[in-house]
Amino acid sequence: MGAAAKDKSLTVLGIETSCDETAAAVVRRAAGGRGEILASVVRSQLDLHSAYGGVVPEIAARAHVELLDAAIRQAMGEAGLDFAAVDAVAAAAGPGLIGGLIVGVTTAKAIALGLGRPFIAVNHLEGHALTAGLTDGLDFPYLLLLVSGGHTQLLIVNGVGAYERLGTTLDDALGEAFDKAAKLLGLGYPGGPEVEREAARGRPAIALPRPMLGRAEPHFSLAGLKTALRREARARAPLSRQDIADLCASFQEAVVDIVSDRTARALDLYWERLGSGAQRALVVAGGVAANQRLKAALETVAGKHGFRLVVPPPELCSDNAVMIAWAGALRLSHGLTDDLSAPIRARWPLDPEAPPAIGAGVKA
Ligand code: KG4
Ligand code: ZN
Repeated sequence: MGAAAKDKSLTVLGIETSCDETAAAVVRRAAGGRGEILASVVRSQLDLHSAYGGVVPEIAARAHVELLDAAIRQAMGEAGLDFAAVDAVAAAAGPGLIGGLIVGVTTAKAIALGLGRPFIAVNHLEGHALTAGLTDGLDFPYLLLLVSGGHTQLLIVNGVGAYERLGTTLDDALGEAFDKAAKLLGLGYPGGPEVEREAARGRPAIALPRPMLGRAEPHFSLAGLKTALRREARARAPLSRQDIADLCASFQEAVVDIVSDRTARALDLYWERLGSGAQRALVVAGGVAANQRLKAALETVAGKHGFRLVVPPPELCSDNAVMIAWAGALRLSHGLTDDLSAPIRARWPLDPEAPPAIGAGVKA
């Protein structure tokens, strides 16, 4: 695959099985670079895991085995394409739960081998990072705030495969913090939407800590907030419905303050790194991007810095295979394909050069 691929229309089948969504999608990248979603299938396993208040890896892996073939067949059907029209097969090869990754990657490799087309191992985080190019035609560079159940990162996206991590979480991911807050307040899973709904009828009057606020490096720490929430909940037990709403509202406001402060710091750093002439766009991705209160706050932060806020539609912010197919198409256009021996990686940082966050001034 030479440089000529840059000027060719490319159709890629994408597969996502890194967590609890079994997803397949077909995306076309036109010669000019514009992307088009030909099909997107997402089979959520939510009902299988909700009783446990979180994703159970073994159950997820088995469900991927059972659901993936049909999801791929459905995606190809919706795209109205024969497999012969597929230029490459891409799968999320990490980071994530190893059992699920094995299912998706092995299936993708088998299809690629059968078709005699390239296989592309996509970093799941790169899928999230590049989505705004598909949905909004956004060029590089931009600042990405990735906030999901498993990840909380601030990254400069300079191009395909070119990421600079500015900040990460030292303990819990943001979505995980919402899920744990919901669990300890007796709300359902996933917790984010439940906490947001309860918060809407609560008063954010309960004092909770805002760890890491004002620190020079835009890292996050959320475990202390969760502990403080538990303490406040215990102090009020038994909780009335109004207590639950007030605790949710107070928790959400603490999160909003933390994310606003850390993102503002990252916007300053983005400028310092790239110069004030660089494109000013802030992209938010990951399931937590669905939170309306957080989105409004980020709109304000971005506006103050003269940045445009770009939030892909919710179904492309949470886990999906469109982002894997699109990242695959971009990689293919750069001639970046993988061998069938490409490994699966439970851990796979987007910026391997980033210094470890631990020691960056932790424990607020
Ligand atoms: O990206 P995602 O769908 O899956 C991964 O974790 O990769 O994100 C799911 C996370 C869950 O932790 C969920 O509680 C959180 O996103 N979430 C929200 C909201 N909707 C989903 N968190 C806060 N507010 C929401 N409205
Ligand atoms: Zn994700």
